[in-house]
Amino acid sequence: MFNKSEVFVMEMNFKSIILDNKIDMAFLNDLLNKPLPFTPSEKLFWDDPHISKGMLEAHLNPDIDLASRKPETIEKTVKNLIDSMNLKPGDKILDLGCGPGLYCKHFSQLGFKVTGLDYSKRSIEYAKKDALIKALDIEYKYMNYLDMEYLNEFNAIILIFGDLCVLSNKDRDLLLKKIHKALKPDGYFAFDVSTRIHRSKYGIKNRWHISDGGFWRPGLHMVLENGFDYPKENIYLDQYIVIEESGKVSVYRNWFQDYSLEVIVDVLNNCEFKLKTVLSDLTGKSYEKNSEWMGIIAHTI
Ligand SMILES: C[S@@+](CC[C@H](N)C(=O)[O-])C[C@H]1O[C@@H](n2cnc3c(N)ncnc32)[C@H](O)[C@@H]1O
Repeated sequence: MFNKSEVFVMEMNFKSIILDNKIDMAFLNDLLNKPLPFTPSEKLFWDDPHISKGMLEAHLNPDIDLASRKPETIEKTVKNLIDSMNLKPGDKILDLGCGPGLYCKHFSQLGFKVTGLDYSKRSIEYAKKDALIKALDIEYKYMNYLDMEYLNEFNAIILIFGDLCVLSNKDRDLLLKKIHKALKPDGYFAFDVSTRIHRSKYGIKNRWHISDGGFWRPGLHMVLENGFDYPKENIYLDQYIVIEESGKVSVYRNWFQDYSLEVIVDVLNNCEFKLKTVLSDLTGKSYEKNSEWMGIIAHTI
């Protein structure tokens, strides 16, 4: 649901569906129209006080690949990344969108100097407490990675679970340039993106439900879930319209752009990266043409 789609999700201005004691059908109808790709948001989704609670539970649930992948996948990924990026203990690693620090913890236990950035306050607080309990020296920062300003600092940077896919082309290129700047001259960048096969397997959602306390809200609410496909651009949108008893409406948009190998190589080259390795995922599985994901290792030189 929210995993693969690292999210540019958004909450629009508070608005009610009740107008002059009637349901504002025109407003509701507008919400169901297909928006332009990456229509900007008002509020960031991962940091919402209620939603981030369910999100943290999803990160920490070892049985599902939802907000984070399962623990055995994470361990395999860490091992493969160390090999693929020629990393040695003492090297500096930056984890962008680190969530509760599930990858940072492993890298730190293996002797790497780790920094994790995330803009979910709740996840960063959890990660900090966990590092304290395990006596790990990890630097965690609560921030938007689009605002980072590092220069020649890291041997490797990782961005895991489709997080590049949620960015508009403009933000994606901005982030890639910042990552390039943050890396040492001989640095590596590892990330994963989904392919169009992924969406064709899971399809577009169109459904609704009513819940008395759930993922989106603590009280009674209705969720209209609708999906939009933009096949020419390889983009899709999962949209969640949340309506509370009071009539208050919030719209959360989860944008996702799929990539082909040709396009992602082009994007990397435009931002001065060279493709080093392409895999079916970051655990090290060999690349196949019809795989749902691509695990990419890029190099600064
Ligand atoms: C799908 S989760 C993946 C978390 C982690 N990489 C993992 O695989 O376990 C995406 C994470 O990125 C964070 N995130 C999304 N956009 C971000 C941004 N612009 N700046 C910082 N963190 C961001 C979210 O809060 C969330 O923790």
